[in-house]
Amino acid sequence: MELYLDTANVAEVERLARIFPIAGVTTNPSIVAASGESIWEVLPRLQKAIGEEGVLFAQTMSRSAQGMVEEAKRLSNAMPDIVVKIPVTAEGLSAIKLLKKEGIPTLGTAVYSAAQGLLAALAGAKYVAPYVNRVDAQGGDGIRTVQELQTLLELHVPRCKVLAASFKTPRQALDCLLTGCEAITLPLDVAQQMLNTPAVEAAIEKFEQDWNNAFGSINLA
Ligand code: E4P
Repeated sequence: MELYLDTANVAEVERLARIFPIAGVTTNPSIVAASGESIWEVLPRLQKAIGEEGVLFAQTMSRSAQGMVEEAKRLSNAMPDIVVKIPVTAEGLSAIKLLKKEGIPTLGTAVYSAAQGLLAALAGAKYVAPYVNRVDAQGGDGIRTVQELQTLLELHVPRCKVLAASFKTPRQALDCLLTGCEAITLPLDVAQQMLNTPAVEAAIEKFEQDWNNAFGSINLA
């Protein structure tokens, strides 16, 4: 499977890339805007932080297919291995088809239904990103949406992967992976929560205390 961080915080990516087995970094316009940096400055810094083999994703802003294709080409010229995120609208589907012909890999984003994700996959997207928490927040069932999309892609478009997005808890992420979906992107706080639980620190402290009581030190020497 592939685990991504959903952020444009370069310092945090540098720190967490040392710890987490990440495949790369996903961004969106809100995330880049929050970084306070120009997208053309922050993308090379993120790429450096994740290394050459790390996969980077960035999104177009235009509403028209032609504008999306032009922006995707600009992104791809600047960052040759980038995967371009295209919102799955009618114009977005057209852009995904055109970019497939150009050999520029895309991720269909802002996916709120399995049908929408399936169309993006059929149009030629390499990844599709259902928004788990946002679907839940609308009264839908985000995990069910992922499950349906995963099954549809396995049956009909196996070259396209579900890269599930929009998580607020580790539980949502695990439930999503249990559907068989092969890739997820986590915001920094959720990634941290997967590791940091107070009980872990308490357990280690108790081991140290017991060892120290018996041997007068907290190392193996
Ligand atoms: C990914 O494609 C999305 O941009 C992102 O994960 C959305 O997450 P949010 O719902 O937490 O903003």
